[in-house]
Amino acid sequence: MITHSSDPVLQLKVVETEALICTKCDLAEGRTQVVFGAGNPQADVLFVGEAPGQREDEQGVPFVGPSGRLLEELLAEIDLTRDAVYITNVVKCRPPGNRDPRPHEIDACKAYLRTQLELIDPAVVVTLGNFSTKLVLRTEVGITKLRGMAYEWWGRYLVPTFHPAAALRGRGQVLEDMRYDFSLVRDVLDGNLATDTGIEEETPPPQPADDPQQLGLFGQ
Ligand code: URA
Ligand code: SF4
Repeated sequence: MITHSSDPVLQLKVVETEALICTKCDLAEGRTQVVFGAGNPQADVLFVGEAPGQREDEQGVPFVGPSGRLLEELLAEIDLTRDAVYITNVVKCRPPGNRDPRPHEIDACKAYLRTQLELIDPAVVVTLGNFSTKLVLRTEVGITKLRGMAYEWWGRYLVPTFHPAAALRGRGQVLEDMRYDFSLVRDVLDGNLATDTGIEEETPPPQPADDPQQLGLFGQ
């Protein structure tokens, strides 16, 4: 991805324009359109979901279905809107029939996410569900274990939480847990982590890798 501008907002536009015609993996065949991401290109918070669903594929915008409505509710509770944050997915094209994205597809697509992270340069990254959490943290530990904490991560914070679809299926406790995780995002933004950190000193946060060169995704 070669860009010639030093303006990150413009650079992001250039990369988006490239991505909209991407055929780097076989998900290109079944998609209606690429769902690159939406929101504020200078956001403090970057949300990473899994993959576009049917409505996203039709509209070219992430999280516009039922999961998106719940995400907006949770954002509102911490005084944010979808226009204030940036929202994207691990893969930018809809897998046929909403099947899970496959490892080679995630691999093919992850450079876009890395570029989004570098150019948007958010203070907090929120991974929604197992796919994005596993990709970003390079861990096999499940989301249920990882969530509930803000991790210091490559000079910013990472808040892993459930996918909104899990809360829609389960409601109840999952939703309450997501509310807690979103409150951690608010705490990070307000600089209030000292009082209510969610960071456990005894538990070393799962680091992506010791050697940044080995990082599949977010080495800097
Ligand atoms: N689920 C996701 O993970 N991403 C979307 O954009 C919509 C639903
Ligand atoms: Fe390109 Fe990503 Fe779409 Fe695959 S999923 S075609 S890598 S944009």
